[in-house]
Amino acid sequence: MKKLVVLTGAGISAESGISTFRDSGGLWEGHDVNEVATPEGFAANPALVLDFYNQRRRQLLEVQPNEAHRLLVHLEKRFQVVIITQNVDDLHERAGSHNVIHLHGELLKSRGVDNPQVTYPCTGDIKVGDKSPTGAQLRPHIVWFGEEVPMLDQAIEEVYTADVLMIIGTSLQVYPAAGLMNYRKEGTPVFYIDPNPSLHSRGDLTVIAQKASTGVAKAIELIIP
Ligand code: OAD
Repeated sequence: MKKLVVLTGAGISAESGISTFRDSGGLWEGHDVNEVATPEGFAANPALVLDFYNQRRRQLLEVQPNEAHRLLVHLEKRFQVVIITQNVDDLHERAGSHNVIHLHGELLKSRGVDNPQVTYPCTGDIKVGDKSPTGAQLRPHIVWFGEEVPMLDQAIEEVYTADVLMIIGTSLQVYPAAGLMNYRKEGTPVFYIDPNPSLHSRGDLTVIAQKASTGVAKAIELIIP
């Protein structure tokens, strides 16, 4: 089977009811990214940061995958599908996708501040004073701005070996994720689905300016004649 590599961003979860970051009314309008999504912000006010992610986690447990997540699962019948997501939700997994790489971590995992490598399942709130088995303060397993992206090398390898690329619901503002498509082999077709896309169609890049559910259906029509 040919390999389809899909890069997803917050937009694919928008129809499930999760806010994006940079759209009007998005999360970065109501929250200072430096306060809630950096190691410095956590050091300065851990309770504020933990509360921000506790709210995100509670909301995640109330929403469901949408049609776009499900269409990517169906594509596994025709392609070897690898999803590289910037999202920290588990909606791809809950929809049934088998191969998901989380570039920016996962809300439903925690870790001690002393060790980025060992994670623990986490479905409830994390509070100041909650400790890992090694005695370190727990924090969400989220890659904050300024931190290393541990899954990057694997993601680059997937993009390099892709036969087709799909990019769904991302403003392509945050690196290194935004630069991943540049690792594709020359001539690899790219389908970019976003109602407010930050790129124009050119060459092998086809922009589908639609929301994720209808846009992914359209892309599938183009990929599978
Ligand atoms: P953004 O909020 O930057 O971009 C969301 C994109 O989704 C925009 O391009 C919207 O046009 C698009 N969008 C909105 N509704 C949509 C829909 N129904 N269907 C499809 N697309 C839709 O989110 P990301 O690009 O994912 O990182 O942001 C990247 C990273 O920045 C996040 O992972 C997060 C954030 O700061 C960290 O917190 C480390």
